[in-house]
Amino acid sequence: MSEEKLTNKITIAIFASGAGSNTQKIIDHFRDHKTIKIGLIVCNKEGAGVLSIAKKEAISSLLIDKERFFKGDAFVSDLKQFEIDFIVLAGFLWKIPVKLIQAYTNKIINIHPALLPKYGGKGMYGNFVHEAVIASNDIESGITIHYVDELYDHGGVIFQASCIVDKSDTAATLAKKIHSLEHLHYPRIVEEVVELRNRS
Ligand code: GRF
Repeated sequence: MSEEKLTNKITIAIFASGAGSNTQKIIDHFRDHKTIKIGLIVCNKEGAGVLSIAKKEAISSLLIDKERFFKGDAFVSDLKQFEIDFIVLAGFLWKIPVKLIQAYTNKIINIHPALLPKYGGKGMYGNFVHEAVIASNDIESGITIHYVDELYDHGGVIFQASCIVDKSDTAATLAKKIHSLEHLHYPRIVEEVVELRNRS
């Protein structure tokens, strides 16, 4: 886009398709931020909790379909229209197409609920991750925030934080611990990366 932006703020799109607890934390973090704002929620699941959050927060949302995401322009033109500078994935399960990665090089990050490279890849999401950690008798798990590339859960690691897996933990109790870690760290790391990438 050659025209001047309507806002001076760096604008983030959050891609999410679940309940949206991380999305809510990120929205809260940037609510009165001087230089960064959340401009769009992108979702692939009708009725997802995250869409109610977008409505409640009066943030625009975009419901996307597989056909155009994978075989069309990957919604790049919409993202440009919304003046999106940076993309944050928070519980978005579709693979990110090359077209989108090329349009936002080093400007897409994801959070994964395990210590990558362990427990990553296709099919490793939500409780499948926590069940696998418990089945392996691991004594720790954690979160990984990473850049997104063309492979699932593969791009450069930005940040990791860990927690203890107790003998008594179930997938549900471990999920709770992981969510707490995510809520604690993701908004702050998003801010750091967005500011860094905006300078480079
Ligand atoms: C998080 O656990 C995140 O690690 C994973 O998807 C989950 C999203 O949870 N990628 P929520 O919708 O933000 O509550």
